[in-house]
Amino acid sequence: MGCRIFFLSAFLLAVLLNCFTISPAAGDCFPQGLRKDCGFFGITQQQCLDKGCCWHEFPDHSPWCFYPNSAPPSYVVKAVLNTTTGLKVSLITKNTSAGHGAAITPVTLRIDFDTDQRLHVKFTDDNDMRWEVPSQFSPVPDPPTKRASNPMYTVTVADPGQVFFIKIARKSDGDVIFDSTGTTSFTGLSFSDQYLSITTQLPSSPNIYGLGEHVHALKLSSGTYTMWNFDTATPPNLNLYGSHPFYMDLRKSGAAHGVFLRNSNGMDVMLAASSLTYNVIGGVLDFYFFLGPTPEEVAVQYQQVIGRPHMPPYWALGFHQCRYGYENVEALETVVSNYASHQIPLDTMWTDIDYMDSYKDFTLSPTNFPKTEMNTFVSKLHSNDQHYVVIIDPGIANQDGYPAWDDGKKQDIFIKDKNGNIFIGKVWPGATAFPDFFHPNAMSYWKNEISKFLDLLPVDGLWIDMNEISNFCNGACDDDDASPTANSTIQTQQERVGFDPVNPPYAIHNQGGGNALNVKTLDMDCVHHDGVLEYNAHNLFGLTEAIATNEALESLKGKRSLVISRSTFPGSGSHTGHWTGDNHASWDDLYNSIPGMLNFQLFGIPLVGSDICGFIGSTTEELCGRWMQLGAFYPFSRNHNVKGAPSQEPYTWDSVASISREVLGIRYAILPYYYTLFYFANKDIVDDGSMAGATVTRPLFFEFPADPNTFAIDKQFLVGPGLLVSPVLTQGATSVEAYFPAARWFDYYNGTEQTSTGASVSLSAPKDHINLHIRGGVTIPRQTPALTTTATRKNPYNLLVALDKEQSSTGYLFLDDGDSIGDTNHVFITYSTVSNSTASILQAKVTTKGSTNADTPNLDSVTVYGVSKSPEHATLNKKAFTSFKYDTTNKVLTFSSMSQSMEEGFVLLWS
Ligand code: GLC
Repeated sequence: MGCRIFFLSAFLLAVLLNCFTISPAAGDCFPQGLRKDCGFFGITQQQCLDKGCCWHEFPDHSPWCFYPNSAPPSYVVKAVLNTTTGLKVSLITKNTSAGHGAAITPVTLRIDFDTDQRLHVKFTDDNDMRWEVPSQFSPVPDPPTKRASNPMYTVTVADPGQVFFIKIARKSDGDVIFDSTGTTSFTGLSFSDQYLSITTQLPSSPNIYGLGEHVHALKLSSGTYTMWNFDTATPPNLNLYGSHPFYMDLRKSGAAHGVFLRNSNGMDVMLAASSLTYNVIGGVLDFYFFLGPTPEEVAVQYQQVIGRPHMPPYWALGFHQCRYGYENVEALETVVSNYASHQIPLDTMWTDIDYMDSYKDFTLSPTNFPKTEMNTFVSKLHSNDQHYVVIIDPGIANQDGYPAWDDGKKQDIFIKDKNGNIFIGKVWPGATAFPDFFHPNAMSYWKNEISKFLDLLPVDGLWIDMNEISNFCNGACDDDDASPTANSTIQTQQERVGFDPVNPPYAIHNQGGGNALNVKTLDMDCVHHDGVLEYNAHNLFGLTEAIATNEALESLKGKRSLVISRSTFPGSGSHTGHWTGDNHASWDDLYNSIPGMLNFQLFGIPLVGSDICGFIGSTTEELCGRWMQLGAFYPFSRNHNVKGAPSQEPYTWDSVASISREVLGIRYAILPYYYTLFYFANKDIVDDGSMAGATVTRPLFFEFPADPNTFAIDKQFLVGPGLLVSPVLTQGATSVEAYFPAARWFDYYNGTEQTSTGASVSLSAPKDHINLHIRGGVTIPRQTPALTTTATRKNPYNLLVALDKEQSSTGYLFLDDGDSIGDTNHVFITYSTVSNSTASILQAKVTTKGSTNADTPNLDSVTVYGVSKSPEHATLNKKAFTSFKYDTTNKVLTFSSMSQSMEEGFVLLWS
């Protein structure tokens, strides 16, 4: 067909008729921006370009073929000033149309050299106060008074007059860790009211971890990681209950760094083959960079900003049993007595919403869970050193005469709709209002409701669910009538000109895309205290509820308590633990529980675990047995089941009962090790002056960052530095492939040394066996296990000493009363074993704070793995000690009948 075309209309016609090909100019395609579909299913790149559209192969489902869109405005550096703490950079743009709302200009960039390991980079609008995460909920470090003297990083920004970029490098090797310098398709910075974006270049095939909460492998692959708290039954890759805009980047050299974007607004973090883009719909771009260089140091440095993890009470580390659908108090009693008769450890019994009167918080069902019977049940648990935890949900039924509603209404602490009426959604009890923890009276309201409930029933901890906030309607439920309140003219941030919380110009990929922000939650124009919009505060609800709940429980009880929250945000770990939500009784979710648990170690919430044996669906004997084996090593270990599914308590099958006795026996034996790991995570500096840690369970690369074979391993993990867990995750399997990084490793059960290291090995794993290995160089304190943590704590100690190649080993033990608040009286012991060619010496050095707990049982035995030959002599505190034996086959040396006080230092020598 001949083309006689003139000027614009003819030109467009030609495009339509496909007369000739035009490709958009590079600057007209901005893949990170809003992409309007220009193609059709199966369109090829050539067909797309022939249409004059842009092509970009994103790994997600977004259109690859999209209409030309505006690139962000180019910010130009106006001035760079040296400050006492770093740099202040002023950025301006002439192009005020960013495609997603007018570009803000000027933008101020403050760069603070906070510490040698931590750099703070913050972009703000100096002319307008923008939304920021309140520090009362998620702490911020005090601003530095002077520039860090010997920073591990260098920072380069564009010179005045140039297009803006920022480049951060690791000083020791010049490795660039953040680089906003554009390429043609990824360029610049966007900073408009509801769309903020920045891209960093990454090395190709980067090793990136974090960016939760999502179900995916530990090492992230390319894709869009959306952060918008959402209640859904854990589909892979979609946004889930919590938001954690933090990632760790591990370089080939083994050096790791972390990047935290302190922002609570909805966002997409797009990880591509060699770049990472943040598209955020509000707030400011407030980055912290942590230079590590070890992964554990990165986690410590991050948690020093967001708050150190809560120290759980000792009993919280015992085993927990729960289900949705225990119908009455008799059902609870039966479960507890079945545990006892099957001799399976149980520290805590839980109850789901079934216990409530018509699903109303702070009530008891008068028919199925009556007050008197429930109190008898709980006091029986307590007299048996067991505990009781119940669920509460944030939705308060709006029924007059129901005290939690009447009190809240009187104190005006509920979240409002845009007209100033109490927002009404729908959860288990039907129509519900939601407390606004931004309100200054909400804390006392919540504490008062909890206090009255504790008077009704003295529970030991609270499980806070549905706090994304989950709502059965998309925003307001139309047919529920909202109760008006006195105050109907609330000033909100939405009055900012052009600000649209309901239909923001950039749509994050909520549940993969195409879902408004209010789907299954509140309306975005709902208002919290002081005019704070739900749009900004949404991701913070779980955090604020956890703070109020933990504070209420601890102040009412005067001791550490247990809170387990579904929704979390950076800072939550200082107040709560987490379970990974509604998983499935499937082999896939058995595996998914490992990356889930490991991610939350990075996020500062080490007390985490998944529903053991699976929540949704019917488990099987084999799956439940394998899950009990793995779940016994989650920091938070709880079997939980959905309503209507067949029973899955471990005594349901003889085989699972027997597996559970074995693995929970191991868990209870090594609880002193777990508890000490929590102490390390909770403190900045521990008693012997060494730097504390951050993680309780950890990926292999945390301990072996120089070994790239470990970078993607998420089917095995470590408890602390020294216990390697290699579970079976496949149906029918009776062996498991396990990787052993180069070190000495010993079979946990009998001390035989793993000969092949730095390699994958096939290990035998019959149904009743989980492979556990202890790393040479690590000493684990143990106690003889009993059926509760309290009973176990009265039993004698054993030290499991695994020797490394130098015949040395180190371990720690923290001992306190298990539930006092604050820096209380305690004992801290360092165990170190050193050897020369003729002798080995194990020395215990004890530091005490305050008077010690006189009931601490004695050290009864020491088991040493990896001893090359039988010793001839031994002394304990310089006196001959003869009660030892050597196993020549396994090379295990055992000292017994030691009767050594745990709270006094000692020296054990063998030669
Ligand atoms: C939610 C929770 C689940 C609980 C159920 C009933 O789905 O995630 O654990 O059993 O609500 O309360």
